[in-house]
Amino acid sequence: MSRTVRIAPSLLAADLGRFKEELAIIEEGGADWLHVDVMDGVFVPNLTFGAKVIETCRRLTKLPLDCHLMVVEPEKYFDSFAKAGADLITIHVETAPHLHRQVMRIKELGLKAGATLNPSTSLETVREIAADLDLLLVMTVNPGYGAQKFIPATVGKVARARQLLDAAGSHALLEVDGGIARETIQSVWRAGADTFVAGNAVFSAKDPKAEIAALRALCAEQA
Ligand code: DX5
Ligand code: ZN
Repeated sequence: MSRTVRIAPSLLAADLGRFKEELAIIEEGGADWLHVDVMDGVFVPNLTFGAKVIETCRRLTKLPLDCHLMVVEPEKYFDSFAKAGADLITIHVETAPHLHRQVMRIKELGLKAGATLNPSTSLETVREIAADLDLLLVMTVNPGYGAQKFIPATVGKVARARQLLDAAGSHALLEVDGGIARETIQSVWRAGADTFVAGNAVFSAKDPKAEIAALRALCAEQA
């Protein structure tokens, strides 16, 4: 299997009192991306980061910024997040009645565009746009909080997402997010995911650098 593994630690789980050090640790530890969870307190109950934090991340790290928008009317933020230095913007299909237009707008701004689905949302919602996506994110928990329990039933969905992308001839990366840790990563890797968000698993580990390496190695083992 020639899939490249990408590990994307989630800022949500970092100790924000040590913002700069936390970013340096994961960068030194070989993280591929920084995952930035943007929550608006409407689409999901929690409230987190905006353009100012993205801009600060951009200053402090060279890692690509993978911005996951858990917000209603996501298009309101495209311009300011692009200006702040986001590399990739992923929006929820549940908040995107004009998904094609929204994806195209993200690309027009020179960014990579992703679409994501809650665990209960059908993959059919992205079939028609699969070839245009740079990334498909299959949520493995219900969005809104870090450190939740991985939902095992999503493994089958990841496998079906892999088939859908392949059938569409899509080059989109297949990302998973929520409850990804040593115990769960192999199941989704085997199902066809290549990009792994890990919040709690990385930042709560005694040695976050070693944890990033361990997660990556677990995928290689199963290749
Ligand atoms: C959940 C967020 C996740 C979260 C993952 O709504 O989208 O990115 O930070 O955290 P862990 O890895 O701790 O489940
Ligand atoms: Zn996320």
